[in-house]
Amino acid sequence: MTAASAGYITDVDYIPGFYPHMSPVAMRYAASLNRVVPPATEKRFRYLELGCGLGRSLTTLAAANPQGEFVGVDVNANHVAAIDKDIATGELANARAIACDFATLPKDLGRFDFLALHGVFSWVAPEVRQQILEVAKSHLAPGGLLLVSYNAMPGWAHLQPIRGILRQYAALRQGDTVQRIRDALNYLVFIRDKKAKYFEDNPRAAAYVDGLLKQDLRYLAHEYLNEHWTSFYFSEVAGMFGSAGLAFVGSLPIHTNFWDLCVRPEFQELFRTTSNRLVTESHKDFCANTAFRWDIYATEPRVMQSPEERLKQVDDLYFRVARPGISLPHQVNLGVVTSTVQGPLYETLLKVLSKSSLRLSEILKDKSLKGNPAADLIRAVDAGVAMGLFDVTAGPVKITAKPLKGSVAVVSPFNRAVLASDSLGGRPVALASVATGTGHTLGDFDAAILHELTSEGPDGLVQRVDARLTGSGRSLQQEGKPVTDTTARQQLVESACAAFTDTSLPQLAQLGIVATAD
Ligand SMILES: C[S@@+](CC[C@H](N)C(=O)[O-])C[C@H]1O[C@@H](n2cnc3c(N)ncnc32)[C@H](O)[C@@H]1O
Repeated sequence: MTAASAGYITDVDYIPGFYPHMSPVAMRYAASLNRVVPPATEKRFRYLELGCGLGRSLTTLAAANPQGEFVGVDVNANHVAAIDKDIATGELANARAIACDFATLPKDLGRFDFLALHGVFSWVAPEVRQQILEVAKSHLAPGGLLLVSYNAMPGWAHLQPIRGILRQYAALRQGDTVQRIRDALNYLVFIRDKKAKYFEDNPRAAAYVDGLLKQDLRYLAHEYLNEHWTSFYFSEVAGMFGSAGLAFVGSLPIHTNFWDLCVRPEFQELFRTTSNRLVTESHKDFCANTAFRWDIYATEPRVMQSPEERLKQVDDLYFRVARPGISLPHQVNLGVVTSTVQGPLYETLLKVLSKSSLRLSEILKDKSLKGNPAADLIRAVDAGVAMGLFDVTAGPVKITAKPLKGSVAVVSPFNRAVLASDSLGGRPVALASVATGTGHTLGDFDAAILHELTSEGPDGLVQRVDARLTGSGRSLQQEGKPVTDTTARQQLVESACAAFTDTSLPQLAQLGIVATAD
């Protein structure tokens, strides 16, 4: 352990991952739902990520927002070297990564409109948390937004011993960190299967172990072996950021901003009788047994004075139907609450937003929605987003884009590089879209089809994808079982290629990720 990492493991590199909640568009929309004016992003803006790991969120967002400047900081020099490579191959002129700890950021870093830290706050030493608060104080611009994720209470209460068992057993083992977490996981499974009393008394903890077995060992090492792992109550985090002059302004995913979508009706009375956000957020976490939070804070938040102001301040956001073929009634399970969207207003909104992506002001003016009070329409659109019916994007999406003709190309060098390195890597692949201002996730198998189609063309696509699949050792699954028969596998690959070309490819064209090759 070095003083710089302060108990955070540095001998195992993390795993790459893209997290859409970290996008400026998601943070801006969540703030605007809470009547807070977010920073503008149409022109130049600045974004800082603390503890950016291998930088997949940072670089994907930089590729999706060429007008923004993206800076990542990480104490692990291997992580920064990998990001530098991705920045070079992706030809990203607006991103850079700095290898340093939070206490020694360059003096001339300046102020940022967005500051984000995911997978950091719960896992670092108390003095490092203090450094994070200092960074927020001095580097977040007035009105800027900060996103912080953390392990939350009470959801972690029954799981905390799992972390304790893993860490204590790993400390007794020999070998590198990956070997020690592997041994610790085997021990955990052993005592769970032999019905140790802790697991008998906590059946949910016993089931949780199955999820751990599916995880990458590098992820598990970073999640569980850091010396200072902590889970926080919302009020503790709000208190810490409050001491640095930041106020809570909302949370992600979007539905967590709607208390009636987070807790059952019998718990909702408190929300009607108090306007104290500390009380309602805590009440929500107790009623929903929240285990993880993504919270947004702001320095000197500017509160919108009227609904009309939202139309002025954030009317650069666009809304569209979340995916083709969605129909009503639309039922969604949001964890504690299952909700159903239906009714004539939603039927019309669904029709309107299937044809084109629209700003809120355009939705209000749409002829087919005439007669509905503006407040009802805005509420329906926001609730539709919260329930996954609609999507919010940073710019217009060409829903009626011309069909692709002839050979197809992946437009940006960044996305081409991601496809070349990550397809069939066993993890979802995120591609950047300038139209939406965020990343779009494909399965790694679909990513391989796209890569083959766009790099070598459609002739012999099925055979090439099949050969890559066989070479990678990755198996296809049918009804939860690996497909071992060669003919059955080839048929599956063939239907996957056809489905990808018919359904996913036109969607990627709408997002500006692929286009007809010149
Ligand atoms: C769990 S990883 C999360 C990475 C990334 N945010 C993600 O979600 O993929 C935490 C990262 O924080 C970095 N980190 C931990 N302590 C740090 C410190 N004191 N200064 C800078 N980086 C730190 C680690 O090296 C690691 O890459």
